[in-house]
Amino acid sequence: MRFDVFSLFPAVIRPYLEISILQRAIEKGLLEVHLHDIRSFTTDRHHITDDAPFGGGGGMVMKPEPIFTAVESVLGSPPACPVILLTPQGRTYTQQVAAELAAYPHLALLCGRYEGIDERVREHLVTDEISIGDYVLTGGELPALILIDSITRLIPGALGDPDGAQDDSFASGLLEYPHYTRPAEFRGWRVPEVLLSGNHAEIARWRRQQALLRTWKRRPDLLEKADLSDSDRRFLAS
Ligand code: ADE
Repeated sequence: MRFDVFSLFPAVIRPYLEISILQRAIEKGLLEVHLHDIRSFTTDRHHITDDAPFGGGGGMVMKPEPIFTAVESVLGSPPACPVILLTPQGRTYTQQVAAELAAYPHLALLCGRYEGIDERVREHLVTDEISIGDYVLTGGELPALILIDSITRLIPGALGDPDGAQDDSFASGLLEYPHYTRPAEFRGWRVPEVLLSGNHAEIARWRRQQALLRTWKRRPDLLEKADLSDSDRRFLAS
């Protein structure tokens, strides 16, 4: 999987690529992230990347030329892969969207800054727009990292455990069951006995029921879309 990230602040993104799962995925050759500083594609003496909006009003708008030059000089014209703009105006990011994007071998991520971006970038360069939620950040760099992180977890071999992403909250449409590790008793609080029983069928049943219960309590909206068996439905009705 290859990402090309276009940003005015690529330094924000770099450190996160140098730790843990992402670092290992890069070392294993499963992930490539190329960071491009939009400012280095300006041609004027002052390296200007923004300007006042036509029609007046506050704030600055990202100029189209350096963005087009950056994306097209790296990815060609038209670009060789989808170009995703991170913006609160995009479609809302979910685990389902992560899975959809993970099917591409190559994605470009464009991080907005300032008040906005010249609309011609949206109309003639960007092919998809994604929001990570209904709140406004100062730029698209953290959202871009969120996409890279969540998509990398879905690349086969990127997680230590080959089934790692399968039990995730949301992967099954349910929230995850509770996890415990040693010690079996901590400050008098014991781990549920069933987890110490060695009975794998019983453990699987308990985990499924806990996932159902947790989803019902915290995110009942998810149950409507989840893939539930007859025995799941019986448990929830009981
Ligand atoms: N840029 C600023 N806020 C954002 C959001 N919520 N999602 C994606 N990009 C953004």
